[in-house]
Amino acid sequence: MKDKLIIFDTTLRDGEQSPGASMNRDEKVRIAKALERLQVDIIEAGFPAASPGDFEAVQAVAEAIKDSTVCGLARALDKDIDRAGEALKAANSSRIHTFIATSPIHMKMKLNMEPEQVIEYAVRAVKRARQYTDNVEFSPEDAGRSEEDFLCRILEAVIDAGATTLNIPDTVGYSVPEQFGATIANLIKRIPNSDKAIFSVHCHNDLGLAVANSLAAVMNGARQVECTINGLGERAGNASLEEVVMAVRTRHDVFPCRTDLDTREILTCSKLVSSITGFPVQPNKAIVGANAFAHEAGIHQDGVLKNRETYEIMRAEDVGWSANRMVLGKHSGRNAFKNRMTELGVDFAGEEELNEAFFKFKQLADKKHDIYDEDLQALISEVSIDAEDELVKLISLQVCSETGETPIAKVTLRMNDQEMAGEATGSGAVDASLKAIEQMVNTDAILQTYSVNSITGGTDSLGEVTIRLEQGGRVINGMGADTDIVIASAKAYVNAINKLLTPGTRFHPQKGEV
Ligand code: KIV
Ligand code: ZN
Repeated sequence: MKDKLIIFDTTLRDGEQSPGASMNRDEKVRIAKALERLQVDIIEAGFPAASPGDFEAVQAVAEAIKDSTVCGLARALDKDIDRAGEALKAANSSRIHTFIATSPIHMKMKLNMEPEQVIEYAVRAVKRARQYTDNVEFSPEDAGRSEEDFLCRILEAVIDAGATTLNIPDTVGYSVPEQFGATIANLIKRIPNSDKAIFSVHCHNDLGLAVANSLAAVMNGARQVECTINGLGERAGNASLEEVVMAVRTRHDVFPCRTDLDTREILTCSKLVSSITGFPVQPNKAIVGANAFAHEAGIHQDGVLKNRETYEIMRAEDVGWSANRMVLGKHSGRNAFKNRMTELGVDFAGEEELNEAFFKFKQLADKKHDIYDEDLQALISEVSIDAEDELVKLISLQVCSETGETPIAKVTLRMNDQEMAGEATGSGAVDASLKAIEQMVNTDAILQTYSVNSITGGTDSLGEVTIRLEQGGRVINGMGADTDIVIASAKAYVNAINKLLTPGTRFHPQKGEV
């Protein structure tokens, strides 16, 4: 086991803490199934005590996942640990991850607790978690700014209490690689019972060092890395799973360990997370960006044609790029469609949902000759969007756009079971359409970002539009896909509005609470 690097994915928990990235239960299950196909060791599915929605999502993931361990996060409080234990009941293999802050600033200003009291809470929490599972992880939050002597004391105590994994979080992304690596080495050396637990790291990317810090920790004895697909997470995000995994694999001459992941599933996971959260992947992102394996300079192209290794250190197909194969077409039947969807981790709630999805697939196949997995993922997102309790529904959109003329859009919506029509002009077809919708729904939300991505190549590709709206401090992302990007934009705006109109139930621990 010494040379195995455990991959702990926290896309569904820390990743979901990115503003606007909230996911519903079914979306979390879809991502969890994709992570299971990627063969990640542990999936942190959420924070069950945060809200009833989080609890249900963790429960649903625990029921759906068979091969990976499912983990729930809990503060060092009895009520949180009991909620996590309850949510994880159905899991084949479960872990409870409990945490409490250990840095001087957090203990004093956030917890208002003395260090001895913090140790007491931590020990008590680990013991309670052990009543539910023998797989318990403890994190001293803000370890990156904690005193090493205090970390040694609290970590020794929680190992004695039954913690099997010790996770060292650089919560605010303050660490730098050499120093962080040395901290891990020191902790392992100085804690007398350190051989009874696995050391893990959880690095945030505020200084762009999350992956570098995680890898420095691995070089110094850490054997679990917590990371997220596409580096999603609080603020600047977490260490990106794909970068950590491919660094360890590509530089096996340097790293004394290996992961068990099926790296060919990386790209599918990346696209799925991007599409569900509405967080686009930048083209120059390592491993999963559209340009990650593209060679522009003639001299590079020439070299690669002569021998790929002249300019490529990894094979694109090893991270899933060539898996972009056509799976279905216009003549595919309902069974073939259902089977492929099952392979992609989509279980239909019943015949009605399957029929609706199949109908949409046929409509798409009429417009687009080749249907790829990415198209199917977008289509299922569309079906689940429609299936949500929509307060506002887009019925029709007509746009007139002509050179030299001001574009005008006519939109019909159904709101509270009543149809309403409206029209507006704008600087372009998209602008006019969104203005027409806004005039009817009157949210006064501020449009923060608008982006269009083509899901596959070709001018007949599905365009996926993401819209981020802010209203009274709440940020949400809406998503819509269509072969017509004006319609995709209107769908994305309506989707965002529906989310705004659904009150958020997420609970954020308050200052003074553990
Ligand atoms: O960043 C952090 O400290 C966390 C902990 C809960 C591990 O996310
Ligand atoms: Zn974190």
